[in-house]
Amino acid sequence: MKLRSVLLGVAAIAISSLAYAQQPIVIKFSHVVAIDTPKGKAADFFALKAAELTKGRVKVEVYPNSQLYKDKEEMEALQIGSVQMLAPSLAKFGPIGVKEFEVFDLPFLFDGIDQLRKVTLGPVGAQLLAKLEPKGIKGLAYWDNGFKSFSANTPIKVPADMKGKKFRIQSSKVLEEEIRALGGLPQVMAFSEVYQALQTGVVDGTENPISNLYTQKMYEVQKHLTLTEHGYLGYAVIVNKKFWDGLPPDIQKQLVDAMDQATRYANQIAKVENDTALEGVKKSGKTQVYVPTKDERLAFKRALVPVHQAMESRIGKDLIQTVYKEIKFNPSSL
Ligand code: LMR
Repeated sequence: MKLRSVLLGVAAIAISSLAYAQQPIVIKFSHVVAIDTPKGKAADFFALKAAELTKGRVKVEVYPNSQLYKDKEEMEALQIGSVQMLAPSLAKFGPIGVKEFEVFDLPFLFDGIDQLRKVTLGPVGAQLLAKLEPKGIKGLAYWDNGFKSFSANTPIKVPADMKGKKFRIQSSKVLEEEIRALGGLPQVMAFSEVYQALQTGVVDGTENPISNLYTQKMYEVQKHLTLTEHGYLGYAVIVNKKFWDGLPPDIQKQLVDAMDQATRYANQIAKVENDTALEGVKKSGKTQVYVPTKDERLAFKRALVPVHQAMESRIGKDLIQTVYKEIKFNPSSL
């Protein structure tokens, strides 16, 4: 009898430790955009790849659309470990004290994704991610969305059309300066609150890559969209550093592979997603899409490039000069 209960006890321990061994490692991945956006799709793709490459030892749970946290809260949640992974836009690192990321917000800096890529894949990209480590954050990758355009309820053709209007921006001082340089009034606001703010007139307009404007249905509450494509919006995929460092090395490696594949996927689909979204906006018939003339766009560029110099003390003159050199940008050639 005694032997039988000992054996049963041993079996129970064996079964429960087997069950424990089979418990997957859960990664909560929170984000603020819709599922059918470049970031939403790439996050889901990463979840699939992570499950496949780790053979189910890692389960990535993706929480889209600010379901778990809004912009500011998600950063805090990552730092305290309530979620393990995020992909905030590069404009959202100022509030945690890594303001150098705002270099990506400088208007009219990148003439296309190839130039941007030179920076993210080069030494500057790596140095910026390393700046997150003292904040308890490990940077894993850069994902694209696209170039932002202005929308409002009144037509915007030239900078003067922005005068006195309230524009929602992300939490970046560079973007604040950008709107001010155009005579507008910047208003920082969480992404999840933008639709309602536009609907109720709390703000008059905003700036977005078209995939965000479309999937949040902002075309329902904005009469005009002007394809200024004046600035870049992309993401840093980040993970809680303590959580990451505690992962078994084989799992870490498999997750790096999954992330590499997800990054390739994200950066491949971003342009197509934005192009498709633009078609959707046009089809809605609710927002008039305006393509600025060369001169009109140049007027925006002339008004906005001085923001680079105005932001030197915040971002760092050296950093801006390094980026200029990498992409051969000459601010005085305007
Ligand atoms: C925004 O707040 O406009 C964007 O950063 C949202 C996003 O994650 O693309």
